[in-house]
Amino acid sequence: MGTESFRDKVVIITGASSGIGEALACHLAKEGAFLALAARSGERLETVAAECRRLGAKAVSVPTDVSDEGQCKALVASALNTYGRIDALVNNAGFAVGARFDNLSSLSLFVEVLNTNFLGSVYCTYYALPHLKETRGRVVAVSSVAARIPFPYFSSYTASKYAMAGFFDVIRMELDGSGVSVTTIYPDFVATRFSANVRDADGRPRGQNARGYSRRTMTAQECARRIAKAAVARRREVTLSTRGRLAPWIMLLAPGVVDKTARKVARKPPST
Ligand SMILES: NC(=O)c1ccc[n+]([C@@H]2O[C@H](COP(=O)([O-])OP(=O)(O)OC[C@H]3O[C@@H](n4cnc5c(N)ncnc54)[C@H](OP(=O)(O)O)[C@@H]3O)[C@@H](O)[C@H]2O)c1
Repeated sequence: MGTESFRDKVVIITGASSGIGEALACHLAKEGAFLALAARSGERLETVAAECRRLGAKAVSVPTDVSDEGQCKALVASALNTYGRIDALVNNAGFAVGARFDNLSSLSLFVEVLNTNFLGSVYCTYYALPHLKETRGRVVAVSSVAARIPFPYFSSYTASKYAMAGFFDVIRMELDGSGVSVTTIYPDFVATRFSANVRDADGRPRGQNARGYSRRTMTAQECARRIAKAAVARRREVTLSTRGRLAPWIMLLAPGVVDKTARKVARKPPST
């Protein structure tokens, strides 16, 4: 398929106010997609939508907290009201808490991560599916290499990304024959605000203490390009790093090696 694959296709992207979601919105805008962009920060989202319109797309911003089922239902309804159909849903919104599990003062942050990353994807998918069946559309889930290599200090995040992987593997099979494809993406580190937004045990963003990305870290634009390509090809899953692709095999043969790598990669957050 060529670069016009998303021309006139209606795509909902969650977490579109920043990072990978923003880059994907701009990527699809250049192809002439009709976009419904969701995140909590309405002002930032509208800036991204305006940029997408400038790039040639139709784009609306729909301020949404995906951890709230009612808001996910309203997001789907809004996309449908605006464009009359839905061709693709990209479940991308997410964040992480970086802290030892036994240092959390309560479970509220843990639950918030699960509600956003996992249940947010479930809610959006549930309400979009009837419309995606009409268009033989596409569901995309942005999981993480954390669902391949479980990282210490990121128990809720890792659990949420494993949960996403399992959930989308099951609905892929259930949707077999419906015409709707389900593509799960497992990115490794991508240079976005994600790391700065990681919250400590008290819920404060790490900010300047965030991991420094190297020149070799994948850009959000490259990640977006790979997501779009995988969705167009209706790929089952794409893992965006060699260590992510190898981890499940090494896990079978020598799980201790994966643990060792994970400990090295997940440097101890400052406030654990
Ligand atoms: N960057 C990486 O290294 C990396 C690696 C693997 C996987 N990922 C995954 O990629 C996805 C995008 O992350 P990113 O790197 O682009 O990080 P980012 O720049 O921090 O963007 C996260 C996006 O999610 C939105 N979001 C967070 N909580 C939300 C909520 N409750 N409701 C709606 N939107 C919400 C944020 O917008 P608001 O704050 O305005 O709501 C923002 O648009 C995440 O699912 C992340 O787990 C990232």
